[in-house]
Amino acid sequence: MKIATSPAVPSAIETALLVVAVADTSSGKTPSPELLVSDPALQALTAPLISSADVTGKFVEPVWLLSPTGVAAKRVLLIGAGKKDKLCLTELRKLAGAAARAAKSKNIKSFVFVLPELVEAPAGAQAIAEGVITGNFDVDTYRSDRKDQQLTDITIAIPAKADSKAAEQAIADGIIIAESQNLTRTLGLEPSNFMTPSILAERARAMCAETGLSCEVYGPEKLKELKMGAFLSVSQGAGEEPRLVVMRYEPASAPASPVLGLVGKGITFDTGGISIKPSENMEKMKYDMCGAATMIGTMRAIALLKPSVRVISILCCSENMPDGKAQKPGDVQFAMNGKSIEVINTDAEGRLVLADGLCYARQLGATHLIDAATLTGAVVVALGYHNVGVFSNNEDFADSFTDSTIRTGEKMWRMPLDQDYFDHIRSEIADIKNTGGRWGGATTAALFLQEFVDDKPWIHLDIAGTAWLEENKAWMPKGPSGVAVRSLVDFARRFRT
Ligand code: BES
Ligand code: MN
Ligand code: ZN
Repeated sequence: MKIATSPAVPSAIETALLVVAVADTSSGKTPSPELLVSDPALQALTAPLISSADVTGKFVEPVWLLSPTGVAAKRVLLIGAGKKDKLCLTELRKLAGAAARAAKSKNIKSFVFVLPELVEAPAGAQAIAEGVITGNFDVDTYRSDRKDQQLTDITIAIPAKADSKAAEQAIADGIIIAESQNLTRTLGLEPSNFMTPSILAERARAMCAETGLSCEVYGPEKLKELKMGAFLSVSQGAGEEPRLVVMRYEPASAPASPVLGLVGKGITFDTGGISIKPSENMEKMKYDMCGAATMIGTMRAIALLKPSVRVISILCCSENMPDGKAQKPGDVQFAMNGKSIEVINTDAEGRLVLADGLCYARQLGATHLIDAATLTGAVVVALGYHNVGVFSNNEDFADSFTDSTIRTGEKMWRMPLDQDYFDHIRSEIADIKNTGGRWGGATTAALFLQEFVDDKPWIHLDIAGTAWLEENKAWMPKGPSGVAVRSLVDFARRFRT
């Protein structure tokens, strides 16, 4: 998709579709809509609709005008921007996504989106670029009637006085970030028969080859050599071999330290193992590799945006299957740092693979750690589908990450990690056990991981409720969301110690 800017008066631009935002300026219940561009021809065209309340400005409300008079476009789409004083980059990104999805539904492949005048051009243009690209994502990969409705050309109309160079640079960044988020979604969408641990590793390798990152892929022998007993136990019952991927971004310009370590859970299918899951909804467990997919997307954006900081990323890729060789409840496993783990429930496998992944990231020199994982059903109980659960052992590190989540419009919520919960994962026979019972399950899982980060500043992102969008939104289809990529990329770009 090509995205350009235009300083022309919007009504004079020839295009299949001109998209203009309408906000509601009222503070109460009766809407008071206002067109967010001071273009006399557009004002004249829309005045009757606005005064008749056929347009309200309600968020993502679409109103189509065909063969509009006084403007060069073939169609105008008025899109509701919600309350005017609430319009921010996050909402603008959604508006652009909604416009993209509306255009696609009518098989329109190019359009002009008018930047609302109240938004600053570079940041606004970037948000629009991100919204359009994430809105352009399709989930019908394997349907024979799949329509090729990919958008081809987008123009963002910016005020003539705006700095178009800065806007174009911001758009270029936005394209990288959003396409990386879409890569994460593409991987998350694949069914497990097309996304085995080795295929996931190959996809990471291909991304690294394209972007100039170094990449190593380890199989079972190397994992045995590294004494990754916790990781290896999960694939014992699987037909597919496990893979551990190491991706490195090490620019010569960056200082030797800090080194950001990004670790992703890559369970390409989670049956639960011998502690098998109920069959209802089990098909969803193909997305249990979304933590790893998040890191692949994040590393792609980092490789292309080239911040001056070292980043290494580890993907722990495995299936969790039951067979005659599968690990059994009660088995004791040794992680690479020597800690013994009593496996109470083979379905708590994510923490087992991440335990070794986190240790290995430290061994490779990571000074700061962030992991992403579809780790617990408990985080979905706590936060629903709307917020990522954030756990951290370090206030400054967590605060600065929170800044990134706010800047990029990804909703995340800090969760407790106090030692009081630790009693739940004490074991009689081993150092710890891999489940802590029903209550506080997201926290006991995080406390388990903490045993493997040593004293390193660390953030754990539980994306179980957010990596998969449960319903269609105007700006995004139901399916893999690519959540956390934007925050992680923003954080890496601004990471200093
Ligand atoms: N992959 C699941 C977590 C999950 C559950 C993700 C629902 C998305 C939706 C994880 O491996 C798991 O099975 N966790 C168990 C842990 C329990 C056995 C302690 C869970 O949350 O039920
Ligand atoms: Mn599980
Ligand atoms: Zn899992």
